[in-house]
Amino acid sequence: MEIKEILNSMTLDEKVALTIGENSWMTRSAEKYGIPALFMCDGPSGLRKQEQVEQTDMLGINDSRPATCFPAAVTGASTWDPEVMEDIGKAIGEEARDQRVGLVLGPGLNIKRDPRCGRNFEYYSEDPLLAGKIAAGTVTGIQSMGVSACVKHFACNSQEYDRFVSDSILDERTMREIYLRAFEIAVKEASPGTLMTSYPKVNGVHASNSTFLIEEVLRKEWGFEGVVVTDWGGMDDRVEGMRAGNDLTMPGGSDYMHKDVVRAVREGRLPEEAVDSCAARILELMRKEAEVLREEYHADYDAHHAAAVRAAEQGTVLLKNDGGLLPFSREKKTAVIGWMAKDMRIQGSGSSHVNAMKKIQPLDFMDGCIYAQGCNEDGSTDEWLLEEVRKAASSAEQAVVFAGLPERYESEGFDRDDLKMPEGHIRMIEAAVQGNPDTAVVLICGAPVECPWADDVKAVLYPGLPGQGGAEAVVRLLFGDAVPCGKLAETWPYRYEDCVTSSCYGSRDAEYREGIYVGYRRYDAAGMEVRWPFGHGLSYTFFRYSGFKAEGRKISVTVTNTGDRAGKETVQIYVGPDGDRGYRPIRELRHFVKIGLEAGESKTVSFELDDRDFSVYDGGWKVIGGTYRIWAGGSSRDLPLSCTIDVDGEPMPETVTGSWYLDPKGVPSRDEWETMLGHKVTAAAPHRRGQFTMEDSVMDMKDSSFAMKILYKVMENEVSKRFGEKKDYSDPVFRMMMESTARGPLRSMQINGGLRDGILQGMLEMANGHPFRGIARMIKR
Ligand code: BGC
Repeated sequence: MEIKEILNSMTLDEKVALTIGENSWMTRSAEKYGIPALFMCDGPSGLRKQEQVEQTDMLGINDSRPATCFPAAVTGASTWDPEVMEDIGKAIGEEARDQRVGLVLGPGLNIKRDPRCGRNFEYYSEDPLLAGKIAAGTVTGIQSMGVSACVKHFACNSQEYDRFVSDSILDERTMREIYLRAFEIAVKEASPGTLMTSYPKVNGVHASNSTFLIEEVLRKEWGFEGVVVTDWGGMDDRVEGMRAGNDLTMPGGSDYMHKDVVRAVREGRLPEEAVDSCAARILELMRKEAEVLREEYHADYDAHHAAAVRAAEQGTVLLKNDGGLLPFSREKKTAVIGWMAKDMRIQGSGSSHVNAMKKIQPLDFMDGCIYAQGCNEDGSTDEWLLEEVRKAASSAEQAVVFAGLPERYESEGFDRDDLKMPEGHIRMIEAAVQGNPDTAVVLICGAPVECPWADDVKAVLYPGLPGQGGAEAVVRLLFGDAVPCGKLAETWPYRYEDCVTSSCYGSRDAEYREGIYVGYRRYDAAGMEVRWPFGHGLSYTFFRYSGFKAEGRKISVTVTNTGDRAGKETVQIYVGPDGDRGYRPIRELRHFVKIGLEAGESKTVSFELDDRDFSVYDGGWKVIGGTYRIWAGGSSRDLPLSCTIDVDGEPMPETVTGSWYLDPKGVPSRDEWETMLGHKVTAAAPHRRGQFTMEDSVMDMKDSSFAMKILYKVMENEVSKRFGEKKDYSDPVFRMMMESTARGPLRSMQINGGLRDGILQGMLEMANGHPFRGIARMIKR
């Protein structure tokens, strides 16, 4: 039966019901028409399939079914290799088939605006081209198995703090050039089956309701034909959401605003066609995936483990290697130091957390080495542990310290307070160096940390959060069984204060004051030194760049492996205006390719520059005429070759005369930002008793409302039940659950909790000082 015919035979109620889930992970079925429900699950670095689909376990405390835990996005992006990501994606797609999942909720490709964002490990890069290409590879891989991918979170969701209610305020040029660009690439190059809207508002409009984002940009401009789904509990106004083309509200269970949608159609405020379009897209997807899952499929989990090891190898970055300390010789006595050598963090916390199929530790591959624990699981240490470190290091010929961030530092749901490593890890590194100058550090964390010890150690290897293959990959790299070839997908500043966002990040509303100067775009334009630049990564061999030339818009460059072993190099092409640049970065990554070279081998690679490479967004994409410099090299700060080309186009729009945006040293003043933005920004005053709405959270209301205080306690008790009655805010999962519930607006609680109208509305009346009305509301329900 054609989808159209199905819709024609459905009542309005049935159609509206289809556009919200059945429970946490499933759509509603259309059994009458032979279309079963669609099962979906996270996520980006491996499946997190929860068999228990009811709301009580939405956040995933119960173990999900075991699956291969691939490197987190931070490590995936550091491969700079969309093909590797395609392999991982395909493996995830195979496991989805095996576990009967039709829709995989990933990848996440929000831009890393500030290194404190708790979820940065789950995102790819500060650069939209790299993020977009890596995402496109992942989506292509997942969808090659017939299951659908879901790119998320569209858009401008670059902080965790108050993510449900914050407003991302930014100018359209910044939005288009930086924050939407990655999505544009992924959508146009890989046609994801679905896309997830983000929690925050974007310039005052909830992303889930945004006609601008969903209808104008995504569907009309980019030609997206798939299903748009809300983030979990992220729907604001379902009538407006459906008008904008947000098809599916998740999770289900609450029938959130069902009656309002039906009424809006009946009263002529929402065209029935809008409901039909949403329902039709969902039915199409359900039917397609049911077809794909019709036959049983068995994934080869051992082969996927091997793929996870390969990907972790490719994504590990050699940040420093003085005197060629690495690779270590197996003939030499090695000291291995650190809690994480026997219990390595392989992934971040939150909805992307995978119940890893295999749990293997670096020490498992390091027989015969001397081991000193050096610190406790939480990152603390003491003199006794440090003395052991000194002893172990000095009795060995080479030492390696596993250090970074323990689990509680990084998670979905909250941001880090700063970029500091635990004091205990720093002291452990210092103790190792005191014992042995030939010390390397393996740095395990999902985002940059300050490294005050970096000048004291000879080598630093950065696997990020490398997944279940990480232990094996790291040991192979340390001992030279594999050659590092990862490159940083984000800049590592010396200290947090160096970040332009440090002056404004972390408040409820996200003011994108830095405009287009994100990551290296800002450090370069301000002429600032950084610890390790974007694109940086060493190898055990060396590469020489030569023969760079431009013929029209075709450029080519030759790379030669001048060392004595095979290796891989990522050739990076940057483009920037030569001379007067106005409000434009000095250079931007425009093309890249990763190539393998045997010792002594040379390869010539070519790239075709296109209009977009010379364009800015000014009410539309405009090619800006003038002379451009094109650079080629192995990192944003190691660009040995360049040439210029002339491009015909329009003059650079002069929008920000005489301001920080022309010379971005220090930070922009509020005035400068508002001038660039074109309007004043006034933070909305927090609601007080009497003014609270479903947009306010229990946290917002609990200080002025007894009812909300009680509700908070009930929630805390409820959540703590899953943690042996402990209210331990240093446990990232506990903290995330509390943040996600108590800090979410009541409407999110209603959706996520599967609550029907009435209960929370009644509580709201009470919080506003109307206890009897509140009780009446609850009873009426
Ligand atoms: C996250 C999404 C995730 C969803 C379902 C949300 O809280 O933001 O990325 O896919 O939960 O787990």
